[in-house]
Amino acid sequence: MTTPIVVGNWKMNTTADQARQLAEQICSQVTERALDTRTTVVLCPPFVNLSAVGEVIEDRPIALGAQNCWSEPYGAFTGEISAAMLRAVGCRYVIVGHSERRTIFREDDQLIVRKLERVWEEKLVPILCIGETLAERQLHQTWDVLSRQLALVSAHSSRTRAWICAYEPVWAIGTGIAATAEEIEQAHAYLRSFLDAHGCHHVPLLYGGSVTEENAASIAAIAHVDGVLVGGASLVAERFLRIIQAQANA
Ligand code: 13P
Repeated sequence: MTTPIVVGNWKMNTTADQARQLAEQICSQVTERALDTRTTVVLCPPFVNLSAVGEVIEDRPIALGAQNCWSEPYGAFTGEISAAMLRAVGCRYVIVGHSERRTIFREDDQLIVRKLERVWEEKLVPILCIGETLAERQLHQTWDVLSRQLALVSAHSSRTRAWICAYEPVWAIGTGIAATAEEIEQAHAYLRSFLDAHGCHHVPLLYGGSVTEENAASIAAIAHVDGVLVGGASLVAERFLRIIQAQANA
């Protein structure tokens, strides 16, 4: 396994000043606690705060990521942001297909694949989110849903295209109810073998959904967990740092 990856998805939180301050706290502590050599840390602030955070983390061992982008390279798409713009502002990663985009903004698998193509064109690394809803889990459709969400993408993937897969069960996001170790282990074992069977051995597999400083160490110890995607707990520097520490120690 490569270095564990810890991604902070700040969602629609922080003003520019708050973003700068949070990034500064995280950066200085990551270096002071020597966590940078043992983990890859990515911060994903809102679009308008990418520059502010980019200035703070410049020349420091933390990477910048965006939470979304549009599927076309440029043009009349009022309110949207292109992958080229993200690269120009210093991003290396882009979250694509987050469940909040899929449900609130009705993004479907076809649109998500077009976004991935655009992100790859700009030599950025997409962090593709997949996961089942509670209803789908209760109907025993989890494996079908995950296979469907991954099949389209793995068909477009290749050895030269870097990407990260994040398993985020929708029912665990922002609810305070993370999946159990057994549920994560089963899902990651399934996803790892699916990815390997489709030539995606190089794709790291993250878990996301109510990751906290309390459950971080036990999640980090689960087989085939190559890192975590963190929402709420990434907005408080000390909480996020403890999660990074847990991954570094795993
Ligand atoms: P929470 O960590 O707040 O559950 O959010 C998870 C998430 O959606 C990260 O992308």
